[in-house]
Amino acid sequence: MSKFRTIWTTEDKYVEVIDQRKLPHEYVTVKLLTYKDAEVAIKEMTVRGAPLIGATAAYGIYLAVREMLENQLNGSFLDQAFSDLRASRPTAVNLFWALDKMRNALDNADDFLTTAWEAAGNIVEEDVETCRLIGVYGLPLIEEIAARKQGEVVNILTHCNAGMLGCVEWGTITSPIYQAMEKGLKVHVWVDETRPRNQGSNLTAYELTRHNVPHTLIVDNAGGHLMQHGMVDMVIVGTDRTTRQGDVANKIGTYLKALAAYDNKIPFYVTLPSTTLDMSINNGLTEIPIEERNQDEVRYMIGKGANGNIEPVLICPETTPASNYGFDVTPARLVTKIITERGVCDASEEGLLSLFPEYN
Ligand code: MRU
Repeated sequence: MSKFRTIWTTEDKYVEVIDQRKLPHEYVTVKLLTYKDAEVAIKEMTVRGAPLIGATAAYGIYLAVREMLENQLNGSFLDQAFSDLRASRPTAVNLFWALDKMRNALDNADDFLTTAWEAAGNIVEEDVETCRLIGVYGLPLIEEIAARKQGEVVNILTHCNAGMLGCVEWGTITSPIYQAMEKGLKVHVWVDETRPRNQGSNLTAYELTRHNVPHTLIVDNAGGHLMQHGMVDMVIVGTDRTTRQGDVANKIGTYLKALAAYDNKIPFYVTLPSTTLDMSINNGLTEIPIEERNQDEVRYMIGKGANGNIEPVLICPETTPASNYGFDVTPARLVTKIITERGVCDASEEGLLSLFPEYN
């Protein structure tokens, strides 16, 4: 399978990312030269997805260190970079994890630039391996269903994009799927379009197409119907923050899929790199900050017009206001299992601690 990366460094030691706002219509890359470039890329969702947000922030700190040294600025410049990047998006905890990791590395550094470069590089490489392992542990769950169905197609429903484009490589939900494909299993993915920003139709469909994974795009409201009619064998989603008791924040609409899966006795799996764990909080409903974004993301849809241009189209009366919550929380009781880089566990404090005893 030809994997690609979503973030990489250039020969002159800057950072480059894919402009995900232009996919699937155009593949455009953006070079990040300053920490402000990294901050804007996260805020405006040039890059998105919890692990990739963390990786970009880490390189943002490297760029800030470089700017500081090149322009002979003092430490307050770096402090500002940390606080600006921290404020770039609120829900995915990987952002804060990556920034804390960079802070710790720099606190003990003699050579700031090399330390920042290496620490950011390690975060990126760690994500690649973490996602690969999520695939290793997730694969048997697909194999089990394939065996039960005697080799027939396993139908997987997913929401948003928790694939490669949300990470560095492999992706979280896509890693078991790609590994199943490599083993010759028959899989088919129902791709929720994922309004308002359409990460499903724009991004998940794009990467599944690139990897020849059979898939079908559905409107966000179709999942329940498909589940009632036996057309979904499992649901796999990603997460932006998972609490100590196993509550899961993910893209708005995930909760509704979990409810439908529960009602239809369909397994609902969450793929979780441990960088997305927030063991400092328990109750996802009250303790996870939910991002609210610009209402125009709901009022307009962006797509490729007949003239070939990518443009926004207003889909409501000029004056109709919209609300735009970016995430919702699926309570642990609706999650069948959590798939991590250390194995599969229950969505509970006990389950998470069995794999991550360091949080005891
Ligand atoms: O708003 P986004 O596109 O950053 O939201 C992304 C998601 O909700 C993903 O499911 C999550 O970050 C997991 S990515 C492996």
